[in-house]
Amino acid sequence: MQIFTKTDNLIKYLDDFSNKTKGFVPTMGALHGGHLSLIQKCVKENDISIVSIFVNPTQFLEGEDFDKYPKKIDADKKICSLAGVDILFLPSADEIYFEDEISILAPKIKGYILEGHKRPGHFNGVLQVVLKLLNITRADNAYFGKKDAQQLYLVKKMAKELFLRINIIECNIIREDSGLALSSRNSYLGQKEKKDALLISEALKKATQMVAKGEKDVSNIKREISKILNTLKVEYIEITDRDFNKIDTIEQGNTRILIAAYVGLTRLIDNVEV
Ligand code: PAJ
Repeated sequence: MQIFTKTDNLIKYLDDFSNKTKGFVPTMGALHGGHLSLIQKCVKENDISIVSIFVNPTQFLEGEDFDKYPKKIDADKKICSLAGVDILFLPSADEIYFEDEISILAPKIKGYILEGHKRPGHFNGVLQVVLKLLNITRADNAYFGKKDAQQLYLVKKMAKELFLRINIIECNIIREDSGLALSSRNSYLGQKEKKDALLISEALKKATQMVAKGEKDVSNIKREISKILNTLKVEYIEITDRDFNKIDTIEQGNTRILIAAYVGLTRLIDNVEV
């Protein structure tokens, strides 16, 4: 596995592989089984696989966990190397960002609901860095998890609307046996909090069962989820269609149920498609 910290060096190196298919998995590190599933798919489906680890400052808001975001670089290198990754890109912020630079803006509606409502400007930072990383790697295929469903939706929207020559590959959410969706931020949770966090996936499971049994009323499902989460500080419980439009009635096969909640001081998100 080749490790690059300089953007120019990576770009030069990649020039030699212009006739190979390239797959890319952008991450912020502290890799877990969720990241690994994206990486394994990428390794399997491409001649050359590239992973980036970059804790992107521009997608964190004032007061968020940028400074304490978990870092496990030695373990991450091992995980990538064992998974058969060809190239690991570990840039510093000044390899990615410029003074007074040109920036792209998340869409005014879909970029400012749900995560974007609670974290205004977050998706500007996400899209800015993803666009840069896609341009640096010139990947054919880039892998994103449904864990961050709105991010995935917006990256696909950007790829389409900016005419990027890239396939955005959607990857399923990986969960612990308990149901808890894997997340780098789970490492913030104490033992009791980890138990409390299970309520989120339990609520989504219950909602899925209700839909399977024929419940179509969004407010009934939201009410049931609220009951299950009543000991947590819920930020939102939202039910939308697959394009993140608000709905009142569930259409099976075209619906998402999304939750953001604090467990102690840790903010967790999860969702299901039904
Ligand atoms: P990060 O949170 O490190 O996630 C990197 C990728 O892993 C994202 O596509 C995310 O959806 C996926 N992922 C995380 N947990 C997952 C799980 N349990 N199952 C499946 N996939 C999972 O998302 C980011 O980084 C950043 O915003 C980034 C896109 C790298 C831009 O900075």
